[in-house]
Amino acid sequence: MTIDSHTEATEPVDLRAQLDARRATCPVDHDGLGTWTLLRHADVVAAATDPETFSSAAGSHRAIPNSLDGAEHAAYRAVVDRYLTDEAVAAQEEQCRAHAAAIVDALPRGRTISAITEIGTPFAVRTQATWLGWPAELEDALVAWMADNHAATRSGDRARTAAVAARFDDLVGSQVRARREAGADAPDDVTTRLMRETVYGRPLTDAEVVSILRNWTAGDLGSLAASLGIVIHRLANNPDRQDVTRERVARGEHAAIEAAIEEVLRIDDPFVANRRRTTRAVQVGGRTIPAGERVVLSWTSANRDPEVFGDPDAFRPEENAAANLVFGAGPHVCPGRALTLMELRVAVGELLARTERLLPADEPSVREAPPAGGWAQVPVVLA
Ligand code: HEM
Repeated sequence: MTIDSHTEATEPVDLRAQLDARRATCPVDHDGLGTWTLLRHADVVAAATDPETFSSAAGSHRAIPNSLDGAEHAAYRAVVDRYLTDEAVAAQEEQCRAHAAAIVDALPRGRTISAITEIGTPFAVRTQATWLGWPAELEDALVAWMADNHAATRSGDRARTAAVAARFDDLVGSQVRARREAGADAPDDVTTRLMRETVYGRPLTDAEVVSILRNWTAGDLGSLAASLGIVIHRLANNPDRQDVTRERVARGEHAAIEAAIEEVLRIDDPFVANRRRTTRAVQVGGRTIPAGERVVLSWTSANRDPEVFGDPDAFRPEENAAANLVFGAGPHVCPGRALTLMELRVAVGELLARTERLLPADEPSVREAPPAGGWAQVPVVLA
């Protein structure tokens, strides 16, 4: 069975429970069709940190920097890293706070709202658009695109996913083309600055710029919105944690809030897995994976491995921080970690500072169905 296979009626419907069961019985899982899934923490880390054996060129198209290996990856990754330094992230904090405050203030009190579609999605889209210098008019198109992308991914229909990806390239491509046409008059924003970057002594091509921007937005808007759903669900359903977090927000304890968020995402990881391809035969967990096979690194499973974390649901931010794999490991480790944690901290901070209480709604929250993780719906009430 693989992450992509359909849920049988007898299987648990929560991805976490499915993966916990698979890891216990078959930690290096082969589907018989050339795809292997690594479920143990040690195996996932070993693969993620051995890019010569586990190549990131696993898909059919080139994605910058995600699908690149070795020196080529390092050259493009250096460009990406320049936009996600601690200073670059700090410079975005005020705009993130302003968007979060406006979103929370506009929400009704005492009535059920959706934490994902009414807080997570607009917050993710508005903060990213502001960061990249994209116009507000594009936000609705991005929200609609996120919904279509989610549906296409879930459908497993490759043609549909490819069509949705092409639409995204059009949306982003329009921003790149407009700046190219404006020349020296292009606005001084992150998108324009990225277009002026060089690799190997030559400017990035428009296709490369679009590919980089696709990774900053297409993959990550959904993860940010899903992460907020997970964190808000926990706060609404765990009054003690909500009290502690309210006190930390009031005292401005940023590091403690971010550590708690990262631990909540370890327990319930919205960024489920990434793919690799073996470049040679390799032994993993007593099994031999031949050369040229697809390998899925299951971050969600690795982050719940009892050999490393004991009870995977126990909330222990300090003890578990060093082994936390929410943002990956090795040369492809997420360059957006600091940005993401700042954004989530600011969103949670404004939500708690602008409400007296965050309560679960009468209607239950609904899990995403595997292969997705996290929550599909998190209804809450602001008081
Ligand atoms: C909850 C939010 C996020 C999570 C959980 C997350 C997680 C991850 C993980 C696990 C990887 C490793 C992929 C691999 O090994 O193949 C990754 C890579 C990456 N992430 Fe994130 N990410 C998030 C948000 C972001 C954001 C906001 C950005 C940028 C604005 C970003 C940019 C990237 C890029 C460019 C890569 C590829 C790095 C490379 O190949 O060198 N991520 N992310």
